[in-house]
Amino acid sequence: MDVYSRFPVTLVRGEGARVWDDQGREYIDLVAGIAVNVLGHCHPAVVEAITEQASRLIHCSNLYYNEPQAEAAKLLAETAPGDLNRVFFCNSGTESMECAIKLARKCTGRTKFIAFEHGFHGRTLGALSATWKPEFREPFEPLVPGFEHVPYGDLDAVEEAIDEDTAGVIVEPVQGEGGVRVPPEGFLRGLRELCDEYGALLIVDEVQTGMGRTGRFFAFEHEGIVPDIVCLAKGLGGGVPVGATIAREEVAEAFEPGDHGSTFGGNPLACAAVVAAVRTVLEENLPEAAARKGERALELLSEAEDHVVEVRGRGLMIGVEVGDGDRAEEIAREMVDRGVLVNVTSGDVIRLVPPLVITEEELETALTRLVDAIAGRSG
Ligand SMILES: Cc1ncc(COP(=O)(O)O)c(C=O)c1O
Repeated sequence: MDVYSRFPVTLVRGEGARVWDDQGREYIDLVAGIAVNVLGHCHPAVVEAITEQASRLIHCSNLYYNEPQAEAAKLLAETAPGDLNRVFFCNSGTESMECAIKLARKCTGRTKFIAFEHGFHGRTLGALSATWKPEFREPFEPLVPGFEHVPYGDLDAVEEAIDEDTAGVIVEPVQGEGGVRVPPEGFLRGLRELCDEYGALLIVDEVQTGMGRTGRFFAFEHEGIVPDIVCLAKGLGGGVPVGATIAREEVAEAFEPGDHGSTFGGNPLACAAVVAAVRTVLEENLPEAAARKGERALELLSEAEDHVVEVRGRGLMIGVEVGDGDRAEEIAREMVDRGVLVNVTSGDVIRLVPPLVITEEELETALTRLVDAIAGRSG
């Protein structure tokens, strides 16, 4: 079905932060499968884990236990702070949000949700109800009732919207699809306090920000809070499709057998990938690498500042707001010819979410080429 507008490139191979097309051309990949390939392409730990698992047991359903699922859940519970100790596995980010919405409804007995302008949480009807963009929503209305969107970063607006009927506040710690928007310091702490005051659940969508991308394993750790529910996907399986919803114990207890489920969720193959990917992120201290390389990236991009509206980001999640959608698209397409993959989000923002293992040299080469393209210099 014709739902994607694609670059005229067919990718056939990847290694680290580099990919090759069917013509043998090499690219430095600053898209990383849209913030998925945190470990780069075909990381040996992930390849080995799924190869080994594929020869033993690929799928067995949730009618039975499987070892990789238990191991992956344990690892996530140990990695997440506080009593974020219960995990439901699914297959994508939008599904992890569906689980969060259902769990929050069941746990609180309430149906109102507060989400944010420019927020993106997926495209199934529940997750789409939390997503803001009118172009994504309007063709499919009516959506799930009870969702209200308020300005991102605006605690006063949340305070005005929240009440005793609010089941949850759904928030990205840094908005990704919405144009890489970093909220003001203290925003998540403020949300935590408001949720506590009104008995609402704080649902943090770490689908794009998680797995170390912003400089901490979870981006909410920058503010020292513990959410009630956390959504993960994208980088979680090192490139293998998998999502997870992690909840605090007392919240997760609202679910009983039959309340939710997934045929493929938690399958041994995907969970073997999760174990390998999460372990590698922790062992190689990739959150710290993301923080350091992110600083360097902003430094390199400062040279483009005179030609764009703003360069912003946190860790290796960076947006260059061009201020003109056509020009942003033009630059992204020109970058293909310059051997670098970038994409445009939120109309006019060039989004950079490279693998966290990108080398300093690759980062420098790619961003020098990007600055040249933005400044209109030939490469
Ligand atoms: C913050 C956030 N939540 C949810 C999703 C949906 O994830 P998926 O495309 O895996 O369903 C995305 C995808 O871009 C996302 O960025």
